[in-house]
Amino acid sequence: QSPCGPIVHGLEDVLIKNTTISDIDGEKGILWYRGYRIEDLAKFSNYEEVSFLVLYGRLPTRSELKEYERRLKSSRDLHPATVEVIRALAKAHPMFALEAAVAAEGAYDEDNQKLIEALRVGRYKAEEKELAYRIAEKLIAKLPTMVAYHYRFSKGLELVRPRDDLSHAANFLYMMFGKEPDPLAAKGIDLYLILHADHEVPASTFTAHVVVSTLSDLYSSVAAAIAALKGPLHGGANEMAVRNYLEIGDPSKAKELVEAATKPGGPKLMGVGHRVYKAYDPRARIFKEFSRDYVAKFGDPKNLFAVASAIEHEVLNNPYFQQRKLYPNVDFWSGIAFYYMGVPYEYFTPIFAVSRVVGWVAHILEYWENNRIFRPRACYAGPHDLQYIPIDQR
Ligand code: SDX
Repeated sequence: QSPCGPIVHGLEDVLIKNTTISDIDGEKGILWYRGYRIEDLAKFSNYEEVSFLVLYGRLPTRSELKEYERRLKSSRDLHPATVEVIRALAKAHPMFALEAAVAAEGAYDEDNQKLIEALRVGRYKAEEKELAYRIAEKLIAKLPTMVAYHYRFSKGLELVRPRDDLSHAANFLYMMFGKEPDPLAAKGIDLYLILHADHEVPASTFTAHVVVSTLSDLYSSVAAAIAALKGPLHGGANEMAVRNYLEIGDPSKAKELVEAATKPGGPKLMGVGHRVYKAYDPRARIFKEFSRDYVAKFGDPKNLFAVASAIEHEVLNNPYFQQRKLYPNVDFWSGIAFYYMGVPYEYFTPIFAVSRVVGWVAHILEYWENNRIFRPRACYAGPHDLQYIPIDQR
C-alpha cells in the first residue's frame, strides 16, 4: 500500500492491452497461439508455419507458406557491419552479441530508416505497415545467423553459409556446426522454436512494447527485449537449470538442491515456478517427452535427464512448492537435449530469442494499431521544499 494508492509490484495481473496472439490458462496449464492449442501445433506444425500463424494471425495456405519460406531464406544474410560487431564480441556472452547485432542490423537497414522517418512525422499507414512486416520477417530470418556466427567466431571457426534446402531449424544447426544436422536434433530445435514462439506479455515482450510505444524502431525494441530475456529469472533460466543438473550430476543429490530452494532467501530453483502458470507448464510437458526420446536414442552420459527427473519428483512432492503452486516451467527440460547436441549452455537463451522474436514483433505490430506511450507513475514517499544548505555549513 502507499499514500497514493495500491502499488502493483511487478505489475502482477495488470492488463496493458487486448490481444489475439496468444492466451494462457494459468490454472489449467493451457496455451493457445491464435486459438490453436500448443499441443496440436507441436504435433502437426513447424516453426515456419507457426511463425506465420503468430505474425499474420492465421494458418497459411501451401502457396503462402512457400512464399513466406522463400522470403525468410532470402533474408538470412547480415550487413557487413553486423558481422563485424559479432566478431568484436566473440569473447563475450552471446546474449550481449545478439543485443548489439540486432541494433547494428537495424542501424543500416534501409527499410528501418524509411519507417523511422515516417514514424517521426507520425505516419503509420498501409505503406509503413508493409515495411514493418518486412522488417519483422527479416528479424525472424536473421537471428539464427547472428547466433551461429557468434558461435563460429567464439571457436575461431570459419563462418558457414546458409543452405536454402534446409528448414529454419535444420539450417540453424548447420550454420552452428557446419555439418548435416541429425534429423532428431533438427526436430528438437524445431519443436523448441514452436514452444517458445509467444507467451502473451512476459517481461521481454513488455519491454518491447515500452520501447515501440515511444515510436522507436522495431530493431531497437527487439534488442531491448533480448536484454530483458537475458536475466536468470526469465530466459536465462534454461542455461542455469542445466548448469545445476551438471553440478549435481547424481540424482540422489537432487533432494538437497530442492531443499535449499525452500529456505527463506535461498537460491530459486531454476526452471520452476511461473507468474501465470499455477500448474505444470504445457510446454515443459511436451519438451520432457522429446528429451526422454532424445536420451533414449543418444544416451544420458551426464545424468542430466535422470537428475532433472529426480528434481521434478522432489518438487511435485514438496509441500513448499505445492503450497505455492510451483511446477516445472518451459526452461526445466529444454536444455538437456541441446546440451547433448553440442550446443554450449550459454547459447540456450539466444535460441530462446531466435524463437521468441516472432512473438515480440507480432505484439509490437498489434500494439501499433492502437499505440499509446507507456508512462506509469511512482508514489513519492520523500520530503518536500527542503532548504538548500551551503556546503561549508553541512
Ligand atoms: C520464463 O512470464 C513468462 O511467460 C515467462 C516465460 C515465457 O515464455 O516468456 O514463461 C519464460 O521466463 C519461465 C520462467 C523462468 N524462470 C525461472 O525458472 C526462474 C525461477 N523462477 C522464479 O524466479 C519465479 O518463479 C518466477 C520469476 C518465474 C516468477 O516469479 P513471481 O511470479 O514474481 O513469483 P514470486 O517471486 O512472487 O514467488 C512466490 C513465492 C515466493 O515465496 P514466498 O515469498 O511466498 O515465501 O514462491 C517462491 C518465492 O520465493 N518461488 C520460488 C521459486 N519461484 C517462486 N522458490 C524457489 N524456487 C523457485 N523457482
